Amino acid sequence: MTDSKSTSRPNKRLLYRRDLLRFGAGAIAGAGAVALGRSPQKSSQAETQLADSRSFDVEGDRSLGARAAAKGILYGAAVRRSNLFEDTAFAARFVQECRMLVPERAMKWQALRPSLDKFDFEGADQLVDFATQHDLKLRGHTLVWHQSLPDWFAEQVTRQNAEQVLVNHIQTVAGHYAGKMQSWDVVNEAIQPKEGKPDGFRNSPWLQLLGQDYVELAFRVAAEADPDAMLLYNDYSLDYDTAEDETKRNAVLRLLERLKSRGVPVHALGLQAHLDGEESRQFNPVQMQRFLREVADLGLKIFVTELDVKDQRLPANIEQRDRIVAAAYEDYLTAVLAEPAVTAVLTWGLSDRYSWLSDVRPRDDGLPIRPLPLDADLQPKLAWNAIARVFDQAAQR
Ligand code: XIL
Repeated sequence: MTDSKSTSRPNKRLLYRRDLLRFGAGAIAGAGAVALGRSPQKSSQAETQLADSRSFDVEGDRSLGARAAAKGILYGAAVRRSNLFEDTAFAARFVQECRMLVPERAMKWQALRPSLDKFDFEGADQLVDFATQHDLKLRGHTLVWHQSLPDWFAEQVTRQNAEQVLVNHIQTVAGHYAGKMQSWDVVNEAIQPKEGKPDGFRNSPWLQLLGQDYVELAFRVAAEADPDAMLLYNDYSLDYDTAEDETKRNAVLRLLERLKSRGVPVHALGLQAHLDGEESRQFNPVQMQRFLREVADLGLKIFVTELDVKDQRLPANIEQRDRIVAAAYEDYLTAVLAEPAVTAVLTWGLSDRYSWLSDVRPRDDGLPIRPLPLDADLQPKLAWNAIARVFDQAAQR
């Protein structure tokens, strides 16, 4: 798989890599400026050329899953049931590229809980069976979250029964899949400092019902129900060199420190990594690596759990847009995989044919978005090359 637009010779590649870590963000900003209608002259021409000249050449035709596995890294993607069972071409590509599957919706409360006293595992079980048939590892997502709660939740869950409802849910769901899951996102998005609560906690229904202890409780119950699964705390906005992300990184780190110091069975941090091609100029690899080292020093592993790159505000021109998206993937993964504690990478979807961002972040110009490794025809894009290159260059785990 080669990038036909590349003009750089292979022996120049290392030089580019190093330069791009320093200048990549500026280069991306330069390309973005054109699309945003800002004056392109504001960014230096040299920076723009640097973005254009980055090589995304890849050797061989092995899948992302195989390249990652060769380094002891798990690669996989989130998927909706309908995409696998109603689109055989997509399902075939999924199995080719991925070594791990995470249900995008099927294991959320809304999907599993028709009522307070019922569980419906039918849809999720189909995904588990698919994964088992195709030798894919499984991640569960997610046992505790403030979103995707069923309609009955607000009415029927009270301070009196909340603890029992939470414990019952985790025991039943993690118990149902015990022994089959590589990992679980036990608690999702519990931190949101801008909401002004103590310790940066999000003002979620769970905080309101149970106070901060719900996090610890959830991990302890999950560990009892499925002692073999790795248990993750998963969150977003941990990526950029902005005051907001820095505050959030610090609050997440403090939460993890507290959990570890209390002997809570938390095994890894999940970085959702919903990146933004337009914001990638704010990525600071040194700062990110420092954060990841602090997490790893607590004895935790790190997974990139929901990687994708928003192209909503990038140029309409597909070639330009794909380059910026691929550069964002490459810069991020290069920095993050330099930390040996990072042992899994999952994209939130595999092909532009199916991305949650089509609903959440559509483009103003109405053009289809292109945030994932494969295009809507299931063909690899430069983003695929970028990910493949980073796996190929990563150190062995
Ligand atoms: C999103 C799914 O992609 C959508 O299909 C669904 O409707 C809403 O949830 N962070 C998470 C994921 O942890 O569960 C979210 O997934 C995306 C943001």
